[in-house]
Amino acid sequence: MNPLTSFTPPKLAHIRYALWILTAIAGLVLVGLYTTGTQPIERRQPIQTGEAAIHSEFTLTDHTGKRVTEADFLGSWQMVFFGFTYCPDVCPTTLAYMATVLDILGESAAKTAPLFITVDPGRDTPKVMADYVSAFHHRLVGLTGSELDVAATADAFRVYYERMEEDSAPDGYLMAHSGHIYLMTPEGRFEAVFREGDQPPEEMAWKIQNIMDKYGK
Ligand code: NI
Repeated sequence: MNPLTSFTPPKLAHIRYALWILTAIAGLVLVGLYTTGTQPIERRQPIQTGEAAIHSEFTLTDHTGKRVTEADFLGSWQMVFFGFTYCPDVCPTTLAYMATVLDILGESAAKTAPLFITVDPGRDTPKVMADYVSAFHHRLVGLTGSELDVAATADAFRVYYERMEEDSAPDGYLMAHSGHIYLMTPEGRFEAVFREGDQPPEEMAWKIQNIMDKYGK
C-alpha cells in the first residue's frame, strides 16, 4: 500500500499549535544556551528586559457593565489571569486556585485586585462573566471588551491566545491561551509570575505576602 494514500492529515489547527510549541521550545533552548553558556546568572538581562516589558494597560468592561482601565486598579496588587468561561480545564482549575490563594492571604487579600480577563469576548459578555466569576470568589473581577480591546490588553501583558477549531467543543471552537498569573505592583508594574501547579496555594500566598511586606504596601 502506498503510505501516502493511507496517511490521514491532522487538522491544520493542530499543526499550527504543534509548530507554535516547537518554536517556543527552540526559543527556550536558545535562551538557555545563551544564558548558561556566555553569562553568569546575575547578568540574565534578556529575560529581565522581557519581564519589564509586561505592563498593565487596558480599557475594558467589568462584569457589572462598568468601563474600566488600569487606573481603576492603581493602589492594588493586580493578580491577572487570561482565559475564557467555556474553558474545560485550565481556567476553572486556575481560578479555583487563585480563590484559595486569596482566602489564605486573609486580610491582605483586600489589597489585591484579582482580574480574570477573557480572550473570548464574543461569548463572554459582562453577564456571562458575572455568573462565572461569582462561582469562584467574591473579590474576583471579570473583564471583557471588543476583540480589539482584548487583543491590545493581551499584547500589553505579553499573553498568547488563539482560536482553535474543535468539533467537540461548544460552538465548534476553543481558545488556546497561556496559563500564567501575573502579579503587578500597586503602580501597575510587573512583579512576578505564577502558574497553578508550580507551587501549592500556601506557597504562592506566602510569596505574595513577602512581596507586600518588602514594598510595605
Ligand atoms: Ni482556559
